[in-house]
Amino acid sequence: MQNQRAKFSLPTGTTYLNCAYMSPLLKSVERAGINGIRQKRDPYSVTPTDFFTNVNLLRAEFAKLINVPDANRIAVAASASYGLATVAKNVRLSAGDKIVVASEQFPSNYYPWQRLSIDTRATVEAVAPPAYPEGRGKQWNERLLNAIDSKTKLVALGHVHWADGTRFNLEAIRKRTREVNALLVIDGTQSVGALPFDVQKIQPDALVCGGYKWLMGPYGMALAYFGEYFNNGVPLEENWISRKNSEDFTGLVNYQTDYQPGALRYDVGERSNFILVPMMLAALKQINQWKPENIQAYCRSISARAIDTLRENDYWIEDENFRGHHLLGVRFPKGTTMDVIREKVKKKKIAVSFRGDSMRVAPNVYNTAKDFEKLLNALI
Ligand SMILES: Cc1ncc(COP(=O)(O)O)c(C=O)c1O
Repeated sequence: MQNQRAKFSLPTGTTYLNCAYMSPLLKSVERAGINGIRQKRDPYSVTPTDFFTNVNLLRAEFAKLINVPDANRIAVAASASYGLATVAKNVRLSAGDKIVVASEQFPSNYYPWQRLSIDTRATVEAVAPPAYPEGRGKQWNERLLNAIDSKTKLVALGHVHWADGTRFNLEAIRKRTREVNALLVIDGTQSVGALPFDVQKIQPDALVCGGYKWLMGPYGMALAYFGEYFNNGVPLEENWISRKNSEDFTGLVNYQTDYQPGALRYDVGERSNFILVPMMLAALKQINQWKPENIQAYCRSISARAIDTLRENDYWIEDENFRGHHLLGVRFPKGTTMDVIREKVKKKKIAVSFRGDSMRVAPNVYNTAKDFEKLLNALI
C-alpha cells in the first residue's frame, strides 16, 4: 500500500499522529457531507426512499468490513455510548453476577456496566495489567482469562486498549466466555477500520464502533453489530422508522407492534441523517477498498525503524504480538516526565495524545516514515 495523503486535506507544517483522537477528513467524505447539506436546499428532492437507501448501503458496507453476512444485523447509533447503552439495557443480570472489563478502559465502555451493576447488584471486575513492563500484554491477557469464572455473565472489552494499544486476544476470550456462558461485548472504536475484525471468527454478542476515528467518518455517528442474544430486545427509543412498514409514509398512522427486521429496531432516531450517512458511507467504501490488513501492514512499515530506535533509547513499547500497529503506547525512560515529553512534541507541532501513563501514537495511511523520524527527533 502506498501513502494516501493526497486523499486528505491535512495542512503542512504539523505532523498528525493522532487518529486515535480523531481521523482527518477524506476529501471524498467532505464532498459527501457538502452534497448532503446542499440537498436540503430543495426538500422536494428528498424522497421517502432516501430515508432508506443510503442507510441500508451503509449497513451493507459496515457488514462487509466486519464480515457479517446479514446487513440487518447492523444498527446505526449516535455514539459508542449509545450503542453500549442499548446493549446494557438488554442484558439480563442478577445479584452476584459478574461483569469483567479491562482496567482503565474508555469511560463509554465502563459507565454502562457500572450503572447496570448498581441496578442489578451485579459486580464489575476491572482487570489490571501487571505493574512491570516485561510480558505486560501477555500477562494482562492471562489475567483477563483467569478473571472469567462461573459468576461471569458479561465481558466488555476493546480489541485494543484505547490508552496504550495493548491488544486483547478476543478469540481466546470468546472461547473462555463460551465455557462459562458469558456474553462478549466489544467496543471496536479504537480498532475497527484499521485492525481486521471478523465477526464470524470472533463471534461477539455485540460490537459497537464510534465512527470518527478509524472508520474515518463524521463525528456524531456510530455503527453496531448485534448478535442473536439481542434479537427480541427493547431499543432505547421507540422511533417511527424502526417499526414495520415505516416505508409507507401514508400508513404511519397505523401503529405497528412489530419492529423492522434484525437489529434495525436499535437504530437511533433520525438515523437517515442526510449529511452523516453519506459521509460515513463514503468513508467505509474507501476503507473497504484499502482493507484493514493493508492499513496494519502500512502502519507497521512506517513505524518499525522508529520503534527500534526508541527502544534503544530506553523507551518502552509493547511486543508486537500484543498490540496493533496503528495505536502504540510509548512509555518513557526512567527519570523523564510526561510533561517534558509533552513540551517536546508540542514544540515540533507533532500531534499525539497522552493517556494514562503513556504517549499514544496513532498513525494511519496519510503518515510516512518521515513523520516518525520527526517524532524521534523531538524525543531523542
Ligand atoms: C475506546 C473508545 N470508545 C469510545 C470512544 C468514544 O465514545 P463516544 O462515542 O461515546 O463518545 C472513544 C473515544 O476516545 C474510545 O477511545
